[in-house]
Amino acid sequence: MPLDLQEYIAGQIWLCGYPVKYFGMKFDARMTVIRLADGKLMLHSPCEIDDHLRRALAGLGEVAYIVAPGTFHYLHVASAQAVFPEAETFICPGIERKRPDMHFDWLLGDTAPATWAGQLDQVLVRGNRWIWEVAFFHRQTRTLILVDLIEKFTDSTPHVDWQLKLWWKVVFRMWNTPKPAPEYQLGWSDKKAARASLQRILQWDFERVILAHGDLVEADARQVVERAWQKPLAEA
Ligand SMILES: [Fe+2]
Repeated sequence: MPLDLQEYIAGQIWLCGYPVKYFGMKFDARMTVIRLADGKLMLHSPCEIDDHLRRALAGLGEVAYIVAPGTFHYLHVASAQAVFPEAETFICPGIERKRPDMHFDWLLGDTAPATWAGQLDQVLVRGNRWIWEVAFFHRQTRTLILVDLIEKFTDSTPHVDWQLKLWWKVVFRMWNTPKPAPEYQLGWSDKKAARASLQRILQWDFERVILAHGDLVEADARQVVERAWQKPLAEA
């Protein structure tokens, strides 16, 4: 079945859910497409770009930036680069060590590059042994964009197989309870650095959260995020 872009915020943000398999578990991930002020598009955590998607994106603008925002969110970068060879690729630090063969132009950090400064803010979340990501804040729509820093699997999340359900319910206790991905929960190694990063994100005035896995957060966003990060935010 072809993947479809869904317009999420008129003229500015589109989403595309796509299936993933991880340790034998099946669930969905989400690509976010952002149209910047000059009309150029950023593909954030891209899925595989097939012809159907290529045409849909072409109707929205020029894909100028490919962003791999987390150390577990880079798998389809090469596919996006093949379809959009002119686009610049930005990656979360750590991916270059996991995938030394991957071509990229820039490493993401705490400061937005000139290309989207003033429109998107970013924080590199430090302090974890297993997983890193760069969180983004889209100022105009007050949208926080994460990949694995919060997962929100609930009874209404589609396309979740029984294995994930079992692990998330019984082992990680994060069914109907948004929390960071298990790799985060098991890997906080520098609590002080982690807390400082998460606190910087909480300074942003967001009203909704786009996540890579599970339901979007569209109500009580700040409370949901603070509750999800309760542990890493707590004083050691
Ligand atoms: Fe993920």
